Amino acid sequence: MKLDIIPVKWSDDGVLMLDQRLLPTEEVWLTLKTYDEVAAGIKDMVVRGAPAIGVSAAYGIALGAKNFVGTTVADLEDELEYISGVLAKTRPTAVNLFWAIDRMNRTFQKAKAEGKTVSEIKEILKVDAIAIHDEDIESQRLIAQYGGELLADGDTVLTHCNAGALATGGVWGTALGVIRGAVDQGKSISVIADETRPYLQGARLTAWELMEDDIPVTLITDNMSGHIMKKGGVHAVVVGSDRIAANGDVANKIGTYMVAVLAKRHGIPFYVAAPLSTVDLNTPTGDEIPIEERDRTEVTHVKNIQLAPEGVGITNYAFDVTPNDLVTAIITEKGVARAPYTESLKAQFKS
Ligand code: MRU
Repeated sequence: MKLDIIPVKWSDDGVLMLDQRLLPTEEVWLTLKTYDEVAAGIKDMVVRGAPAIGVSAAYGIALGAKNFVGTTVADLEDELEYISGVLAKTRPTAVNLFWAIDRMNRTFQKAKAEGKTVSEIKEILKVDAIAIHDEDIESQRLIAQYGGELLADGDTVLTHCNAGALATGGVWGTALGVIRGAVDQGKSISVIADETRPYLQGARLTAWELMEDDIPVTLITDNMSGHIMKKGGVHAVVVGSDRIAANGDVANKIGTYMVAVLAKRHGIPFYVAAPLSTVDLNTPTGDEIPIEERDRTEVTHVKNIQLAPEGVGITNYAFDVTPNDLVTAIITEKGVARAPYTESLKAQFKS
């Protein structure tokens, strides 16, 4: 790989975020000095992608603790509860957000039970947030290794949205990790990237990331994938996920379900790559996954250019759910899970 893309970092000055709203034309790093700046960064999609959102939330809590000026552990606990609530309201679908908040709160409770002081707890929370980040990168490396083995030399892989280094703790990515893993294994892989309306993560981010890595990528509009599959131009589909229910139903960027149906129609394997922090065993099926709805202007406008008539009715679902029977396999850091997912995913948590 030419360079390691790491979209969010801890620093002594605050949390650093690569402003993904400006890519690919500008590479601007923001320094966020308070937890509510971090929460706004998640909500406004400075950072996006489920694992990257989780890492950012952990850093937000560590930053909130660092800035705490009180003196008692009880007051710090109240402050962390408040901060967790603010962060939890940013984006509802990506379960990594809630996973990271829970883990940081469990770390606090353990430190409190051990009688640690306020300054010791601040340090413990910072160390755990960095550990969450490091573990995420390690999970993506393993996903890349396991997933890469599923692809063959010469394959053309279609992906939707951006499930790359930008969407995670960095370096590999989930879906793009699988592609990078195959390339690392010496295979020649080319990628078809759906542009991914309305927010254009495919056009803006996936195309940029893969070009940075010299992996051949062809950008298409979302409505071209059926035609290309029918002509035999796609050997596998690989996507990421924002939340995987216990039964293997997969929430991912809006449009993923259409791609999965098309893949089934054309006998093309449909793979989902995600760390276990994206698997939510407490959500039994995809029907219970909350689906974020975003601002109407994402549909009516591109940047500041108006595309649709003033006042037209708009629906803007950010995610959809692909039923588990359309999913060929789910690749996590523990290996390759196949149907029935209720058993195979649960087993991965125990392995
Ligand atoms: O709205 P976004 O850009 O946060 O949505 C991101 C996606 O849907 C990704 O495909 C998913 O999070 C997987 S990220 C590794």
